[in-house]
Amino acid sequence: MRDLDFTISYVIGQPIHHSLSPTIHNYWLDKYSVNGVYLPQEISSNQLSDLVVSFNLLKIKGANITIPHKVEILNFADVIHPMAQLVGAANTIWFDEHDHLHADNTDVFGFIENIKEYCQKDLQVLTEAPAVILGAGGASRAVLVALSELGFKQIILLNRSREKAEHLAEEFRTKLPELDFKVGTLSDFTEFAQHVKFLVNTTSLGMVGQPDLKLSLELMPSDALVTDIVYAPLKTTLLKEAERLGLDFVTGIGMLLHQARPSFERWYGFRPEIDATLKKRILSLLEMSE
Ligand code: ATR
Repeated sequence: MRDLDFTISYVIGQPIHHSLSPTIHNYWLDKYSVNGVYLPQEISSNQLSDLVVSFNLLKIKGANITIPHKVEILNFADVIHPMAQLVGAANTIWFDEHDHLHADNTDVFGFIENIKEYCQKDLQVLTEAPAVILGAGGASRAVLVALSELGFKQIILLNRSREKAEHLAEEFRTKLPELDFKVGTLSDFTEFAQHVKFLVNTTSLGMVGQPDLKLSLELMPSDALVTDIVYAPLKTTLLKEAERLGLDFVTGIGMLLHQARPSFERWYGFRPEIDATLKKRILSLLEMSE
């Protein structure tokens, strides 16, 4: 007999084959005995509107949206939740009972929870110094909002293209007027290094298949924290450099795990936990791909 309660959720992106989200969500579906499956689906930008229509027709539970669709998906949402509005990008969508498409952002939550879980330092002390964000793309937006929520007041935004960093700073000067921005290129880091206690990489540099991020951290204070949202490899060149210098560092994998929890909750009504088995499974997949 067919099971009419069976549900399907997706992760939508391009490329998508490397995504660890199916492992995370299918683990939870199984663990909590939810009758469903979570699938990866590669979609190009010009297919997004068709996808939204077919999701609605087929009563799909919801989806995660990833690179490169996180900004564009907002054009199709009937309800943009405040965090997605503030960030300017969404990673989670779902339909309500009136067939309205909702879009929200759980990346900010993911970043914050990862830092809170693994930071060995007094966060309060870190937030009193400026923070450097490397990168001014989609991921940088969520990290910027997360740093503001954590209590940072001074942000130094460094990007290969200075113009893009300036645009992002300009947008967020209006959205988050309590933040003070400085802008520069990646090579300006040395100028700021001795004054910052928090450094986060949001560029794709250091990711498997991409060039390494080569940055000297020698000038950073000894009580600084370095983090990377790149999680493949788990210990990027940037984090290895932090480790070499004895600086506290936090890998990016916790952000991926934590952002998945409120997404799952949007679809299934409860927030799942990251247990030791899930962590082990994800870490062993990352080790295998290194
Ligand atoms: P995401 O959504 O992951 O942030 P994105 O919006 O395409 O993806 O942004 C990619 C970021 O990585 C940008 O900050 C980009 O710098 P530019 O704005 O100058 O393009 C940065 N990036 C990508 N490849 C890079 C490289 N080879 N050197 C330096 N920065 C790079």
